[in-house]
Amino acid sequence: MTTNEPSTHVTATIVYESMFGATRRVAEAIAAGIRSAAHVDLLAVHEAAALDPADLLIVGAPTHAHALSRPQTRADAANWVEKPASHLRLEPDFDGDGVREWLPTAPIPVRGFAAFDTRADMPRLFTGSAAAGIDKRLRKRGAVPLADYRSFLVDKDSALLPGQLDEAEQWGRLLGARLLESDATRT
Ligand SMILES: Cc1cc2nc3c(=O)[nH]c(=O)nc-3n(C[C@H](O)[C@H](O)[C@H](O)COP(=O)(O)O)c2cc1C
Repeated sequence: MTTNEPSTHVTATIVYESMFGATRRVAEAIAAGIRSAAHVDLLAVHEAAALDPADLLIVGAPTHAHALSRPQTRADAANWVEKPASHLRLEPDFDGDGVREWLPTAPIPVRGFAAFDTRADMPRLFTGSAAAGIDKRLRKRGAVPLADYRSFLVDKDSALLPGQLDEAEQWGRLLGARLLESDATRT
């Protein structure tokens, strides 16, 4: 086996919510980064019912009204698309439950979890963070963080800033390395 081949038994599940595609693209880049270390399942939150626990669970969502989205903020987001100057497109199945509604049923991972969000390029104090809410809820349910939660930044039109996808892939590699480290201590 070469070192570039994924370990056959280590698994990672990435669950994301996305209205306009930015958080999905970040999730895809994280998946690309982690693939040399683990088998990855990448799922939109509406596809993530009744999952088996993976070794690593990564959960991501857009920051809405300083926190995880709610039905009203998702409806507001859908309205943004209708504005005359908008270049935004809605993701498929955007109007189902979001990560906030899904987290109480999330499968608690065997090794650890990591949370991320997308948010505006301003100090965290002004923007809030969906990832902080994910992190808090998963810890409350007994899951162990494998890394600090992480934000990826968008501009005022909800487009990812340059370099964010590279950073996301790099973060995926870091998570993969930590997962393999923690797997090496498996008893
Ligand atoms: C209704 C609504 C409220 C938002 N509130 C915030 C906010 O409080 N802080 C922030 O940083 N970004 C906020 N944003 C911007 C979103 O974070 C941005 O649209 C998102 O990161 C894009 O990700 P997506 O394409 O995956 O939906 C808001 C967006 C919408 C639609």
